[in-house]
Amino acid sequence: MPRRPMMAGNWKMNKTVAEAQEYTAGLLPRAADAEEVDVAVFAPFTCLHEVARMSEGSAVIAGAQNFYYEDSGAFTGEVSAPMLLDLGARAVIVGHSERRELFGETDEMVARKARRAVQAGLLPVVCVGETKEERDSSPDGMWEKVSGQVGRVIEDLEDAGGEDLIFAYEPIWAIGTGETATPDDAQDAIGKIRDLLRESRGEGFAEGVRILYGGSVKPGNAAEIMAQRDVDGALVGGASLEVESFVELIEAAQNSVSRQD
Ligand code: PGA
Repeated sequence: MPRRPMMAGNWKMNKTVAEAQEYTAGLLPRAADAEEVDVAVFAPFTCLHEVARMSEGSAVIAGAQNFYYEDSGAFTGEVSAPMLLDLGARAVIVGHSERRELFGETDEMVARKARRAVQAGLLPVVCVGETKEERDSSPDGMWEKVSGQVGRVIEDLEDAGGEDLIFAYEPIWAIGTGETATPDDAQDAIGKIRDLLRESRGEGFAEGVRILYGGSVKPGNAAEIMAQRDVDGALVGGASLEVESFVELIEAAQNSVSRQD
């Protein structure tokens, strides 16, 4: 079974409820045409309910950008998996580099979140990636960082099947900078991640897990990134904030499927 591509928008800390409503109303009819692609929108908590409510029954998957792995209790400011499900969310970003770098999330926390999301029936999009310094620190600098991040998540996910989990390879130096990894860089890292999944969990698991690329993806570069063998889609920040450019990205994902047929 070929993996179904995903085009995922990460709004980060952007959009009021009114702006989210306008965007979702514009996106829904356009996304309906992309029958062979999963379209996901990762909205801030404040407008997630609205995005989920409007997208119910449509092709658009509403997701959160973060959550905490405990279900309830004295964790001021946090939001749990049952709360996200209650809002209508079906997916969640876990361990985005901005969470790791700015808010101190460790590999262990990311692994616990990934495990809790899978148990709760939320599809986690687990982000991994290296800084420029890490990449340049040795010939294998990228992989020294990324293999540790992926390995830690896999260790904790004893019962998951490949389809329960998505990884996103997002080199930190390419996020929001306009500097995109080359399609070869993306394929190199993502192919290595799939090899690691194969070695640790077997062929079926490795072939079922979707692995996205993220970092300055835009309409002008999406097609060549999507054409890479192991790249199953993209996690997009800036270029997902306007419906028009996000729809162009969805079309690029759709075309990548047509080319394989
Ligand atoms: P960008 O962000 O597309 O704006 O580089 C990607 C991300 O952080 O997920």
